[in-house]
Amino acid sequence: MKAGVGLISSLVLFLLIGAVFTQRPRQRKPTKRPPTIKKPPVRKPVVPTEPEPQEPTDFPPPILGPPSIFPDCPRECLCNPSYPNSLNCENRNLRAVPVIPLRTHYLYLHNNYISQVTADAFNNATEVRWINLANNRIQRIDKQVFEKIPALLYLYAQRNQLKEVPSGLPATLEQLRLDRNLISKIPPGAFSKMDNLILLDLHHNQLSDTGLGKNTLKDLKSLMQLNLAHNTLKKMPSGVPGNLIQLYLDKNLIDDIPKDYFKGFNHLAFVRLNYNKLSDKGVPKAVFNLSTLVDLQLAHNKLTVVPLFNSHLEHLHLNHNSIERINGTEICPYEMQADLSDNSLVPKLRYLRLDGNQLHPPIPMEVIMCFRHLHAVVI
Ligand SMILES: *[C@@H]1O[C@H](CO)[C@@H](O)[C@H](O)[C@H]1NC(C)=O
Ligand SMILES: *[C@@H]1O[C@H](CO)[C@@H](O)[C@H](O)[C@H]1NC(C)=O
Ligand SMILES: *[C@@H]1O[C@H](CO)[C@@H](O)[C@H](O)[C@H]1NC(C)=O
Repeated sequence: MKAGVGLISSLVLFLLIGAVFTQRPRQRKPTKRPPTIKKPPVRKPVVPTEPEPQEPTDFPPPILGPPSIFPDCPRECLCNPSYPNSLNCENRNLRAVPVIPLRTHYLYLHNNYISQVTADAFNNATEVRWINLANNRIQRIDKQVFEKIPALLYLYAQRNQLKEVPSGLPATLEQLRLDRNLISKIPPGAFSKMDNLILLDLHHNQLSDTGLGKNTLKDLKSLMQLNLAHNTLKKMPSGVPGNLIQLYLDKNLIDDIPKDYFKGFNHLAFVRLNYNKLSDKGVPKAVFNLSTLVDLQLAHNKLTVVPLFNSHLEHLHLNHNSIERINGTEICPYEMQADLSDNSLVPKLRYLRLDGNQLHPPIPMEVIMCFRHLHAVVI
């Protein structure tokens, strides 16, 4: 059995490392400019995180689309006659948003060099449902742009240079992606009317506890996915609405979770706190004992003991902490003597990662006895 577990362990380790790395953005490294090249006197890009272009003067000319049967089709875009409600302007080296025709429902503007979004281009675009502005160089979005689009459901503006969350977003919005910007501030009330927002992605920004604000999130009654990973939060975000299912907070500076933090959540299933500063002191004894929790990730912290968890938990990541011992009797979420003919009482844990700690195989017998669904332990 030991050998079996060992073999599976190394396999799982391999697979899981793959999984961990795929979560990271596969961004090409910015190519370093040789220092000898003279910089043009025009403004420098704020951060050289985007791979290209290096300087505004490097922008290639816009690519024109094919001739269109639609007289209102912007020259730079593609208007497919089979999809009259779609406007494809992605990958066209655009510097500005073209005038959007009234018939547009799905608007694709990603992978261009757009630096600001102004209201005039959208004057007639009142029917738009989806806008993809990802991977541009947007620093500013006029407040009036989205106010006038009452049907907007998805707004994707990740990989830009926004410093704050745009204001005047319509209450209809269901998905808002603003990850990989330079956001350090959320204006008060930015989300106050957004009853329909299901997904909010702000990962990889510069949000601190004060930048996020206390009551910023509390009105997001429909929110199910919140991603605040890769920011500079020291505290757990406050006012997170109770319908949340996924809470991602990896790569912040969080060292403490208030005892009742998760009390108001009735659906929370995925919690990620990898790469924070959690020690045993900052993790109250039963804080993760939630019956809805399915996946708990606490890798790369400073824990020395395994926190208590509920019998419904399926995945637990504790790799790269300082755990020295593991006591199967203590972490088993039921009495080991209990009658387990009722299969529903058997703890559901299937994956357990313990590598990168001060633990050595074999896995204690009590752990195997308790967690009978365990497929793989990485140690
Ligand atoms: C908006 O639509 C009206 C009527 O359909 C048209 O006359 C006008 O030129 C349009 N404006 C723009 C900026 O396309
Ligand atoms: C954990 O939660 C379960 C209910 O899901 C409860 O019965 C149990 O007493 C709790 N354990 C601790 C240590 O709080
Ligand atoms: C594990 O914990 C139980 C209960 O606290 C204790 O009785 C037992 O001796 C511990 N086992 C080991 C190996 O430390």
